[in-house]
Amino acid sequence: MVNAAYPRDQYMTWESDHESGTYGKQPIVLVRGEGAHIWDLDGTEYIDCIGGHGASNTGHAHPAVVKAISEQAQRLFLAPNGFYNDVRARLLSELVRVAPPGLERAFLCNSGTEAVEAALKFARLATGRSKVISTMRGFHGRSMGALGTTWRKEYRKPFEPLIPGFGFVPYNKLERMEKAVDDETAAVILEVVQGEGGVNLGDGEYLRGVQVLCHERGAMFIVDEVQTGFGRTGKFFASEHHGLEPDLMTVAKSIAGGLPMGATLIGQRIGKVPGHVHGSTFGGSALACAAALAVIETMEADHLPERAARLGARLVEGLSAIDAQVVRGVRGLGLMVGIELRGRSGSYLAALAEQGVLALPAGSTVMRFLPPLVISEDDIETVIEKVGVVLAG
Ligand SMILES: Cc1ncc(COP(=O)(O)O)c(C=O)c1O
Repeated sequence: MVNAAYPRDQYMTWESDHESGTYGKQPIVLVRGEGAHIWDLDGTEYIDCIGGHGASNTGHAHPAVVKAISEQAQRLFLAPNGFYNDVRARLLSELVRVAPPGLERAFLCNSGTEAVEAALKFARLATGRSKVISTMRGFHGRSMGALGTTWRKEYRKPFEPLIPGFGFVPYNKLERMEKAVDDETAAVILEVVQGEGGVNLGDGEYLRGVQVLCHERGAMFIVDEVQTGFGRTGKFFASEHHGLEPDLMTVAKSIAGGLPMGATLIGQRIGKVPGHVHGSTFGGSALACAAALAVIETMEADHLPERAARLGARLVEGLSAIDAQVVRGVRGLGLMVGIELRGRSGSYLAALAEQGVLALPAGSTVMRFLPPLVISEDDIETVIEKVGVVLAG
């Protein structure tokens, strides 16, 4: 229980009255988190399977991350990018160490959409071409460039015309990609598992086929690991499941344990980006880099990707055993799990919150589970049980 200065309704009124309006809100005021648990103002405890939309893989208030941030905050928040910085230097070398082979440099920024923006710019710069192909149901962010690669019409339509030369092809259909990529294509961008689009698993042969196609036709292969990265799918990066070696890889969300951070990792086909073509004031802040170093260390020391693989398999198994008419199917990779329903997921997610488990939608009919990877075995069993209650009811 947090000793709040105002009653719950007051906070809800302030947010409803003064926040831009872009977000639909659940009537819950979240105030504290620890590991895979999160509490509201009245002291109600939830198992958090939203995990900051996948930004809390190391769990809320992980002691190693808290320590790193606290110590760095007393030393230096921000070292301008025109100077060297000890923490940023260490983070860059650690990031390329854990990344898939061939990624040797990184542009540091503050969010997933910024990481995608940089990837699109670097691909155009390196190829001198302008076309970008992405996949139906893909999600890559909402800034004006990235938005052109995001599939859902309701996100894009109000802002058209977007950047010309962007197009979509069906996911997991190599022959459609072969038709779309030509000698004007700067890049293909896709997710290894489509998150927002419904937890759709990419087929290994397809993904490797797209990579070969990009090489053959002189286009850059961008893998968006904003949601799948940092252990989520049971490997440090989902690309590892299929032996992918992207030319550009975008990461964000859990990279800094919940602090805003993103990165565009850059491969040999792109090389060193020319000076002054891109930048970010806050990108690579010492504070975010200190958090990210603690995240990488924790991921490895506590074997969090392996944990995600093991607990994710149990979650998929348990959810698959639920006998309910409304369930169309269960799918997942590691702790990125979706239940496809025969109807809209909203009322089931609200009922699940009543049962003490927070989960999120993916599209309109999929319930998505992105718990912190530190979630306990017991909590996984509770989630399975509560989902069963809600779907059967
Ligand atoms: C795969 C993917 N790419 C990009 C983004 C955009 O990230 P951000 O919300 O940090 O801009 C997201 C966010 O959900 C994502 O899942």
